[in-house]
Amino acid sequence: MTATAVEAQRLQIGYRNAGQSTIVLSDVDLTVPQGEFLTILGPSGCGKSTLLRVVANLLDPLGGQITVLGDAPDVARRARKTGFVFQDATLLPWRTVAQNIRLPAVVGGRQARSLPDTRIVEVMTLLGLSGLADRFPSQLSGGQRQRVAIARALIDEPEVLLMDEPFGALDEITRDRLNDELLGIWRETGMTILFVTHSIEEAVYLGQRIIVMAANPGRILNIHDLRPIKTGENSCQRDNPAIVSEIAAQRRLLAEAS
Ligand SMILES: Nc1ncnc2c1ncn2[C@@H]1O[C@H](COP(=O)(O)OP(=O)(O)OP(=O)(O)O)[C@@H](O)[C@H]1O
Ligand SMILES: [Mg+2]
Repeated sequence: MTATAVEAQRLQIGYRNAGQSTIVLSDVDLTVPQGEFLTILGPSGCGKSTLLRVVANLLDPLGGQITVLGDAPDVARRARKTGFVFQDATLLPWRTVAQNIRLPAVVGGRQARSLPDTRIVEVMTLLGLSGLADRFPSQLSGGQRQRVAIARALIDEPEVLLMDEPFGALDEITRDRLNDELLGIWRETGMTILFVTHSIEEAVYLGQRIIVMAANPGRILNIHDLRPIKTGENSCQRDNPAIVSEIAAQRRLLAEAS
């Protein structure tokens, strides 16, 4: 077992359109140990989603090196070791909750696999979705839809979970509750999570480390270790003075980055 979930060296990331490359992020150096909860903050357009896309192998880098669990990102993706939760729960409206959760097993890999119903039940229970298996997405609340999207990403027990503003559209109370549920799942599974958010409070509450990115040009401005102000298992109280002053410090840093 490798000890590193994501390792990037002098990574160049951007898009090729009509033969022209546009660089979004230059010289990204990043080491994410296995099991870490890493949160990512940064102004709109700085390249947060683009960075996750490279780790997920939805986009090839333009240069530099990147490994995911010691292999190239496509190897990790094909071995179903990476899971992705997008900002807007991209559920198929004509499929039920259970069918949506089962989806990666049906279409995600090279071949369809049968997945025991017990695994679906297990994941639904973990996400508090019991009893909703036969509902359609239109019959769910926004928070429930996000839970289904997370359940779908967890179905293959990924070792690295990439989450792109998964709770951005939710009210604060629901978001707080899902944050705690996600921390519980993270503690239980030991997986690595890379979590993009625009909420400074959420980034500080969830992360063991926090990355602040800057725009123009897109880059990593600062990586800050939050573990010294948290107790074991990455726990903290939202109103703890050290947490509150950390949020203020990150807000100042982010204002400089924007
Ligand atoms: N397919 C694409 N082709 C060309 N440029 C793109 C493409 N997708 C995104 N970009 C550009 O890459 C840059 C980074 O975009 P990205 O979506 O990663 O930003 P972000 O940090 O996730 O922003 P937000 O917080 O608004 O989601 C932006 O300038 C964007 O316009
Ligand atoms: Mg984005």
